Amino acid sequence: MKVDILLGLQWGDEGKGKVVDVLAPKYDIVARFQGGPNAGHTLEIGTVKYVLHTIPSGIFNKNILNVIGNGVVIDPISFMEEVRGIEALGIDICQHLIISTRAHLILPTHRLLDASSEAQKGHEKIGSTLKGIGPAYMDKTGRNGLRIGDILEPDFDKRYQFLLEKHKHILATTAAGFQYDVEKLAADEKKWMECINFIRTMKCMDTEYLLNDALKSGKKILAEGAQGSLLDIDFGSYPFVTSSSTTCAGACIGLGLAPAAIGNVVGVFKAYCTRVGSGPFPTEQLNEIGDKICTIGKEFGSTTGRRRRCGWLDIPTLKRAIILNGVTCLNMMKTDVLNSFDEIEVCTHYMIGDKKTDQVPYDLGTPSLKAVYQKFKGWGEITDISSYDKLPEELKEYIRFIEDAVGVPIKMISVGPERNQTLTR
Ligand code: GDP
Ligand code: IMO
Ligand code: MG
Repeated sequence: MKVDILLGLQWGDEGKGKVVDVLAPKYDIVARFQGGPNAGHTLEIGTVKYVLHTIPSGIFNKNILNVIGNGVVIDPISFMEEVRGIEALGIDICQHLIISTRAHLILPTHRLLDASSEAQKGHEKIGSTLKGIGPAYMDKTGRNGLRIGDILEPDFDKRYQFLLEKHKHILATTAAGFQYDVEKLAADEKKWMECINFIRTMKCMDTEYLLNDALKSGKKILAEGAQGSLLDIDFGSYPFVTSSSTTCAGACIGLGLAPAAIGNVVGVFKAYCTRVGSGPFPTEQLNEIGDKICTIGKEFGSTTGRRRRCGWLDIPTLKRAIILNGVTCLNMMKTDVLNSFDEIEVCTHYMIGDKKTDQVPYDLGTPSLKAVYQKFKGWGEITDISSYDKLPEELKEYIRFIEDAVGVPIKMISVGPERNQTLTR
């Protein structure tokens, strides 16, 4: 058996949570491989809407095992809140969730370091979700981090105190101007330890063995990406990126799987583009078009509630993400959001000065870069359409154009947030 990977091809929030939930019944295991509570994956199941941050989106399917892989960073406080929220829906989460011993921990001080780093950057700030992601991955690569496996060791408290003091020293020296609530930190430290005690009662193991054994015995695994390819630490619009490998290769590293184990790579993209946080966005519409997409698409962050920046679909960045990930099929999301537009635009290429290109330059934010658009006729109401064949010809034309431009078939078209608002070809 091979592992299928599902990931976002834009700046995150493409609708990955919905697609994982829809595809989950075909799989035995759903595994997250990177990111942490910066992610917000929304699932709408009947009247219930749920936003998952660290827990994989297979959790609402009874027969599925969910794995939090070694590449994920876990904040015990937000993780426990999430677990309690799911348990309140009557799901026995401990039976359906396994955590890698190699996943790193986010400390309360990581969040403060994140905030102080952003404060120091001023206008240049990344627009981080302030969940402590960057500092936690810095401690991981700097070989100072604490992992889930460490919480089971007798010297854990000592090692925790050591790292905590190190962070407090940084806050008192390098980040000296940064003010924080000392009492709140003390309360968070206490709560954090209580949550660690809770995690000690959960199933934690070397999940690389579990996953490889599962493949050998014919089980089907879906790896669920967080964020999107344009936020990748290497290939995103650096430094306005997250701190993990959001592309396909990240699934091998973040789960302990060999590249040869990878099967289908499902790329998820919106019929337009959004971005939350700072950084270049060539097709951004700072006008009534962007406002209209934002309002109809309810484009507000699932994690932070911030307004998402909105713009037209960008073929050069989509093409690049498809190449970097080896995408084998595409899912187009939020198609219904464009229903009421008479005219829809797509960026086919860029002009950089007088040079035409469909490649993404080193600096996507270079001032001489201009997006060049092709116009398409709007397709009208599609929300209640339940089969691909019944879609309006204008939308089929839009789909054909994208497929021809990027060279990969669009296999799923999403026309609403619910499970059944999904057309497959
Ligand atoms: P993720 O981070 O990629 O899982 O995406 P988010 O959950 O952050 O954002 C996607 C939002 O769009 C969520 O509120 C979904 O419920 C919603 N959504 C997903 N697919 C569709 C769709 O086809 N149409 C509409 N209107 N909303 C959708
Ligand atoms: P999902 O999985 C959209 C963005 C932040 C910021 C940058 C760095 O829901 O698609 P970080 O907190 O990682 O230091 O923030 O990345 N960002 C996301 N944007 N969706 C996400 O996740 C995101 N996770 C981080 O807004 O610009
Ligand atoms: Mg999201």
